[in-house]
Amino acid sequence: MRALTTIPLHGGTLQVSDVPDATAPDGHLLVDALAVGVCGTDREIADGDYGWAPPGRERLVIGHESLGRVRTAPDGSGFSAGDLVVGVVRRPDPVPCGACAHGQFDMCRNGQYTERGIKQLDGYASEHWSVEPDFAVKLDPRLHQVGVLMEPTTVVAKAWDQVEHVGRRAWFEPRTVLVTGAGPIGLLAAMLGVQRGLEVHVLDQVTDGPKPALVSDLGATYHHGDIDEVATAIKPDVVIEATGVGPLIFGAIAATSSYGIVCLTGVSPTRRRLTIDAGGLNREIVLENEAVVGSVNANLHHYQLAAQALAKADVDWLARLITRRIPVERFADAFVDQDDDVKVVLTFDGSGS
Ligand code: BGC
Repeated sequence: MRALTTIPLHGGTLQVSDVPDATAPDGHLLVDALAVGVCGTDREIADGDYGWAPPGRERLVIGHESLGRVRTAPDGSGFSAGDLVVGVVRRPDPVPCGACAHGQFDMCRNGQYTERGIKQLDGYASEHWSVEPDFAVKLDPRLHQVGVLMEPTTVVAKAWDQVEHVGRRAWFEPRTVLVTGAGPIGLLAAMLGVQRGLEVHVLDQVTDGPKPALVSDLGATYHHGDIDEVATAIKPDVVIEATGVGPLIFGAIAATSSYGIVCLTGVSPTRRRLTIDAGGLNREIVLENEAVVGSVNANLHHYQLAAQALAKADVDWLARLITRRIPVERFADAFVDQDDDVKVVLTFDGSGS
């Protein structure tokens, strides 16, 4: 079968390879792939900056934003042939650490977790894949065109869950949220903010393309100005930072009102230097009881939250987030940014162009 593989830490080695057909070991589901999403992590892996092959192997099958249809499912697994399904990215470490032992593998403490398509486990960018039923999530059938957005939705479901946990330190009734970055993570974070009944503002650089209308059609407000000006005008209780861009991160921390919570979700490149007033930053965080929390990955609870969020979302709006669908043979096109991209997906069912 065809699979999109790369040699981790060797840029320029991404290719469609012929690999042995997927088989479903005892108790696993066998799934026909429909699509995989391409995100910044996939681009980093393709560039040779991230990723680990399975032990003893040179190549890794990439793809962690999955969507497929169950071909075979064991009796009693809770799945049946034809179900729309997404595979979970991370697996707990084998020790396990305390967090993994409690099902919180997204919070793994010893770093020995594995991740499909990223760290030591083949991903979902192959014509067929198998998955343990405990690490598969069934989606509402009406999400067949957009279910590939599930994994990024789990990431923002976790981010919101973190914000709400941190908020419960004291009285907390947030009204206004600022989301920085109108990529898939930012837009989905904004959607979850609107679903919570909050006043949602989204800041990005662009003035045209699909992003401004995607934001306003959610019932949120789009901004493209300076973060300090936007923040002064709206005084957000919560900021969800989804760019990983240094000045925006510090702008976000400065932006919140008292008891502000900033959730950082963007994975930045390293070694870019920025001069900051560390004392001023500390003073503000202390004197305003602010919290800055990093958030990555998602556990099964967040997959359930994400499935619920997608089930009540406007499917037509979600479909507009997918700005390009590219058959896997033309994968290289998906790895070259285009101006109006929001989410680019690779397809395995012959759809797309
Ligand atoms: C994925 C996460 C993963 C992280 C680090 C992100 O792109 O969405 O599931 O934990 O990369 O590998």
